[in-house]
Amino acid sequence: MPLMGYSKSNEWSEGVSWAHSNGTYLVFVQVQEAYKHLTNNRQCNGLNHIAFMGNTLAALDMLESALQEKQIKILKRDGDYLCFEDPNGFAIEVYADKNAIEQPRIETNRLILEPYKDSDVKDVFAYASNPKITQYVPWSVHKNMEDAQKFLDGVRTRTSYMPGKLFFIFAIRLKETGRVIGSIDFKNPQPWIGQIDYALSVDYWNKGIMTEAARAVKSWAETACPKVVRLQAGCLAENKGSSSVMEKLGMKFEGIRPKSHYWGNDQYADLAFYSMVIK
Ligand SMILES: CC(C)(COP(=O)(O)OP(=O)(O)OC[C@H]1O[C@@H](n2cnc3c(N)ncnc32)[C@H](O)[C@@H]1OP(=O)(O)O)[C@@H](O)C(=O)NCCC(=O)NCCS
Repeated sequence: MPLMGYSKSNEWSEGVSWAHSNGTYLVFVQVQEAYKHLTNNRQCNGLNHIAFMGNTLAALDMLESALQEKQIKILKRDGDYLCFEDPNGFAIEVYADKNAIEQPRIETNRLILEPYKDSDVKDVFAYASNPKITQYVPWSVHKNMEDAQKFLDGVRTRTSYMPGKLFFIFAIRLKETGRVIGSIDFKNPQPWIGQIDYALSVDYWNKGIMTEAARAVKSWAETACPKVVRLQAGCLAENKGSSSVMEKLGMKFEGIRPKSHYWGNDQYADLAFYSMVIK
């Protein structure tokens, strides 16, 4: 019963650490005095309490269904709050954040942009195992299906629904075949900035696909993220395909930022930066 992403809840707790267990992200909470009311009046300061941040109501609903399916006792469900009993008798609390932004499903002419599904692992391997796709990106070519699975696990870990700290990784699904042929990310490096990054199966290059996907993400961000006023992207200067996508989107070249991106193995890349003001 994996929760769809998670973000550290530093605002209402301290001493937070986290662990990954069976695909579920746990937050061990030391509740601050001022936020004890959020723990449903259980006076449980210290690490004697386990909580999840469910992030969205949809994630909480998903968790509730999974618990019901597994016949796990639900102690309380009240809107954005869910409390259930684990087999050791621990009360586990889960909160959804009312301000969280759902990762949308976006349709364009040829594409569907949506969260990855576990069943997409073969498609991910198919496109990410071609060394041409990694020529200009800091990640390594996938050598086996485990690499593709690690990518999908990483997608779940990095997803964040919190406004100002959004991180959505969209699978790019071709309507015609239903196959995933690439990805496009939208994240907030700063609360007022949206950044996009992308990669596409080599078989589909130069057909306007990424421009179509990037335009759709831009339109979504314009309405769904009212605080985002600037959209930006960066690529290696020699990555002409990528800079062309940015230009077609309406972004302007800002210059080269030397050593602005860690490229792995103690290497840093000089990135060509593009941006546009969207509000
Ligand atoms: C960059 C990438 C996403 C582009 O996707 P795409 O769907 O092919 O992009 P589009 O078809 O929408 O646009 C590409 C444009 O670049 C142009 N282009 C491609 N290679 C070029 C080159 N070497 N020189 C000049 N223009 C080039 C194409 O002609 C096209 O422009 P046009 O529509 O005016 O003809 C894809 O090449 C890719 O995944 N590359 C590997 C991963 C990567 O580099 N990601 C970006 C990291 S910043």
